[in-house]
Amino acid sequence: MSDPTNDAGHLTIGGVDSLQLAEQFQTPLYVYDVSAIRDQIRAFKRVFEAQHFNYAVSYASKAFATIAMYQVAKQEACHVDVVSGGELYTAAQADFPMADVSFHGNNKSEKELREALALKVGTIVVDNFYELQLLGHLLAETPERTQNILLRVTPGISAHTHAYISTGQTDSKFGFDVDSGLAFKAAKLALANPQFNLLGIHAHIGSQIFDVAGFIGATQKLANILKDWHEQLDYTPSVLNVGGGFGIAYTKDDDPIPAEDFVEAILKTLRAQNLPFDLPAVWIEPGRSIVGPAGFQLYTVGSSKNVEGLRPYIAIDGGMGDNLRPALYQAEYEAVKADDPNAQPTQDVHLVGKYCESGDILINHAHLPAVQPGDVLAVKSCGAYGYSMASNYNRNPIPAVVFAENGQAKLVVRRQSYADLTQNDLSYD
Ligand code: LLP
Repeated sequence: MSDPTNDAGHLTIGGVDSLQLAEQFQTPLYVYDVSAIRDQIRAFKRVFEAQHFNYAVSYASKAFATIAMYQVAKQEACHVDVVSGGELYTAAQADFPMADVSFHGNNKSEKELREALALKVGTIVVDNFYELQLLGHLLAETPERTQNILLRVTPGISAHTHAYISTGQTDSKFGFDVDSGLAFKAAKLALANPQFNLLGIHAHIGSQIFDVAGFIGATQKLANILKDWHEQLDYTPSVLNVGGGFGIAYTKDDDPIPAEDFVEAILKTLRAQNLPFDLPAVWIEPGRSIVGPAGFQLYTVGSSKNVEGLRPYIAIDGGMGDNLRPALYQAEYEAVKADDPNAQPTQDVHLVGKYCESGDILINHAHLPAVQPGDVLAVKSCGAYGYSMASNYNRNPIPAVVFAENGQAKLVVRRQSYADLTQNDLSYD
């Protein structure tokens, strides 16, 4: 598919000229096409509505968490999930409705749980026995209060994805194991405490998954767990949370099914299980598929290095500090020239960053037309886990974030200044 351009032939993002964005806000820069975010949320919702399911689309905000993003989620009547006190705080700063927040994590601290209770977070996704007990103690301080919880289970399904982002297999740090009976024991404990309102179960089998079979298998397994609990514990769930993980295209070689088609398969599978009780509401937690394709990173070309017989190195003004994914997961991306995104590539280069590591290779095989110092490159599909995993490595400031929509651009995160870098440093003179 060709990239959208304006009359000047320049790449546009959210209807805004990308060169103009680079000039106005400088590079490196994160830019989001906000309509693409809204469209994906709406596409998920349409599947549930067409299949007549009660549902929640809960945006997994670890993929990209800023006040502006929580505001967009709120505008789209989307739920969100948070995984730390910091994400929870940011959602609260955005005035996000706390009833629509789920709090995840395999080692929530007492402080974080207290913060969640104080803010009246809608659902706490309990991961382990320690947390079940801790939360029970905290709730006992206000005996009249109840708290909605989900139990995170490990369904024993391994998704075919990178080992670091695969979570559903039995040997995992997350959740109550099903096959060894720990999940059943957790359900019994949760049901025995009247301050817990056990909504149902949660499972997340991994991330950047292309194969729908993992979701079908997980849905069958989850339905069996619920049948078992219904029979043995006389328990009827109201929610089944099937997690996120729907894969997206990063390069032309990736050919995933549309993210909403995963959901359709999950719903059809669930309906076919003939549950002995009313179908629970189905909650999903997509992160990457909501913000990934909507995000671009703009960089400016600087130095290059050519050695006879070797592929050239072309350096840009960012790198592993603003997108760690290539260095961490060998993730692949594509770059285009912002002033002519559909130009035919003429060279295969190492597109490298400016960080002091040989592994700071943003794109190992970047297929580019001829480029000069000062040219702006746009890397595509970097809206998920780029800004959210950014660091100040080498004391490089974290770039700004701009939201572009309907031809308008708005700065939503300021670029860090040098002063920001030292603001928490204390003297030892
Ligand atoms: N729900 C839970 C419980 C999760 O752990 C995750 C992701 C999600 C939902 C959202 O998954 P998504 O739809 O975004 O795939 N940093 C890695 C990805 C780590 C994902 C961790 N959990 C990356 O850059 O690929």
